[in-house]
Amino acid sequence: MADKEGNIDAKDFGIGIPQKSEHFFLKGNANVDWGMKDRLSRIFNPKSGHSVMLAFDHGFIMGPTSGLERMDLTIVPLIEYSDCIMCTRGALRSIVPPTCCKPISYRFDAGTSILTDLNDQCLQDIEEAVRLNVSMLAVMVAVGDPNHEGITVRNLSKTVDMGVRYGIPTLGVTAVGKNLVRDARYLGLATRICAENGAQVIKTYFCEEKFEQVTNACPVPIVIAGGKKLPEAEALQMAWRAIDQGASGVDMGRNIFQAEAPIGMIKAVRMIVHDGATPEQAYDFYQTWKNENK
Ligand code: 5RP
Repeated sequence: MADKEGNIDAKDFGIGIPQKSEHFFLKGNANVDWGMKDRLSRIFNPKSGHSVMLAFDHGFIMGPTSGLERMDLTIVPLIEYSDCIMCTRGALRSIVPPTCCKPISYRFDAGTSILTDLNDQCLQDIEEAVRLNVSMLAVMVAVGDPNHEGITVRNLSKTVDMGVRYGIPTLGVTAVGKNLVRDARYLGLATRICAENGAQVIKTYFCEEKFEQVTNACPVPIVIAGGKKLPEAEALQMAWRAIDQGASGVDMGRNIFQAEAPIGMIKAVRMIVHDGATPEQAYDFYQTWKNENK
């Protein structure tokens, strides 16, 4: 209860000491609102500036992909080692324990599958995202796809508007069209288009040459998808090269959950993304972990 009398006089005004105001650690996001910064700070570790996101939204276009047949058995045990999980509302409600307390990068669009023509997407209801307490809205952007470029860029733009209204960042996910080459020129174009349309974070692929041009020309953080399963040593090499060339993390699926030892693999990826390990150190760790946990 407020006391009118007997209050201790306020006297520690710090006269002469400028108020501390923190620099925001995440590239290109200094001017977003407080709620969005809070969400981004739970996705990206403010100390390393990086994030290991675990993606398992593949089923929404690919059905029961290898490794995702029983997500309760294969994915749930991995969640604790991730900084953020990327999934659909179906997976969230059916298998992800709400007690896992991980930020959710939420698959916010829905549409055509691998059996027809990918990328013909619509958006979900923002109230659903708020109800699920998600931390990021993930939307596919098919730059260069003659049939769906317009729809998907409009989807991104609408998502950014809704996200800004509620303080939820948008992840622009660059899709790859059938006839598009994943080179620095194309990825630079696609990521820049997502950023210029307001996405606060971009997910794209790593490319062998000039990836640093892609990250440098993108004014907001980039995280890389893993793509198709590679031998573990190669996947770790790719993660290291991406971070070394300016990526802010990984949003990896198949190269983690299809690995021979998925927990060992996600831990090895963390060593690279957060602790500055070399790919050789991370791979040594992975081999040891796999042999000790057979
Ligand atoms: C599809 C996605 C997937 O989440 C993405 O491809 C990540 O998984 P992977 O590392 O297996 O490629 O965003 O649009």
